[in-house]
Amino acid sequence: MKVAVIGTGFVGVVTSAVWAELGHKVTGLDRHQEKIDQLNRGEAWFFEPGLAPLLKQGKQSKRLRFTTSYAEAVKGAEVVAVCVGTPSAKNGTADLTQVFQAAEAMAPYLEAGAIVVLKSTVPPGTQLKVQALLDKLADKKVAVAVVPEFLREGMAVEDTRRPDRIVIGTGDEKIAKRLIRLHQGLGGERIMVSPESASMAKYTANAYLAQRITFINQIANLCERNGAKISEVIRAISPDKRIGAHYWYPGLGYGGSCFPKDVKELAAYARSIGEGDGLLPKIDELNEERVKLKLKQFEKQVGGYKGKRVTVLGLAFKPDTNDMREAPSLKVIPYLTDTGARVTAYDPKVKDEALALFPGITLANNITGALAQAEIVMALIEWTEIRELTPSAISQAAAEGAWVIDTRNLFIQREIEAAGLRYIGIGNG
Ligand code: UGA
Repeated sequence: MKVAVIGTGFVGVVTSAVWAELGHKVTGLDRHQEKIDQLNRGEAWFFEPGLAPLLKQGKQSKRLRFTTSYAEAVKGAEVVAVCVGTPSAKNGTADLTQVFQAAEAMAPYLEAGAIVVLKSTVPPGTQLKVQALLDKLADKKVAVAVVPEFLREGMAVEDTRRPDRIVIGTGDEKIAKRLIRLHQGLGGERIMVSPESASMAKYTANAYLAQRITFINQIANLCERNGAKISEVIRAISPDKRIGAHYWYPGLGYGGSCFPKDVKELAAYARSIGEGDGLLPKIDELNEERVKLKLKQFEKQVGGYKGKRVTVLGLAFKPDTNDMREAPSLKVIPYLTDTGARVTAYDPKVKDEALALFPGITLANNITGALAQAEIVMALIEWTEIRELTPSAISQAAAEGAWVIDTRNLFIQREIEAAGLRYIGIGNG
């Protein structure tokens, strides 16, 4: 199939590359010429495991190319996938400007019978607005479907090749069949639903997962007060099939470009239709305030940060990405520097860009260098390199009796303590 993909963010680039791998002829589009030039050289402008070889392969096969021209991308395309950003507007609702701009720009070039697929996260009903716009602006009849994206950063290629499910939101059986053909060769169940249900499914999945993390973090707080251990509590509840052991690890709260935004957007959507917003703003509020509350608590436990050498490990919002959107480091480092700590930071993939964000800190080139003489080591992200640090490696490099603040419960308390270090985890009473 000839396919156009509008927007070269994580979803757009990974989807383009995987669809080209399936055998489709894909043209990705973005407004930014620099990104397009880079992608046409077979390089991504962000780090994502497994993506670089796929882009190179797409280039070599001549099935994958990128352009800034709507005419070039959309003419002749059977499917046009919209993967542009839908950031939160000031009132928390999804800002759909880029979706409508894309629809306007593609309209003159759409083929009769083309399917415009909304992969961007959009509130229910958006497909009707896009359809109305295209009915007005395109001189041919086209269809609009909602096919939400469930990939995770850091796992994006694998998630796109082998998703748990592909949700196809359309009321038209013929369109559904063509979209099934588009995804042929990918793993996962195919789930046919209405466009409204598809949009709701995306928000529901993200809000549920965000809620699950917030919930376990609340339980972790209680464990810290009563001698229970969150890892034991999880072990004790997880054999219950209704609960499960996955996606339960506590920490400083959820970050990234999706959960914080989507919880706010779903709350704003609920308000906009007169439903009230109930649980959702509370999840957002608890998550927003969590980093500060935990930092204050650690501050008391370690006897203050003032004048101390603090090493922060992990600056991205999660492992296997260099994306820092809503990363804990963005709140942690300013708090530490404001309270007088001398901060050294290390991340396997976030490099010089961190210095612009955090003036006054030292950025280490490697993890051992980062630990040198640290009085407090704060592990923020579960990068393999951080997870694999041994207690003896930490104690050899760090100051005597240094504190290890393990916000992802990566280490075993008794092993850290046996190495002459002091330990603070999450949810360990
Ligand atoms: C999330 C969803 O998992 C994807 O299904 C969805 O497609 C994506 O948002 C999106 O809407 O685009 P992502 O933000 O890449 O994916 O990352 P996750 O691995 O889900 O982690 C999100 C945040 O939750 C991270 O800050 C992570 O550290 C935190 N988290 C995750 C926890 O604190 N505990 C957990 O058990 C799991």
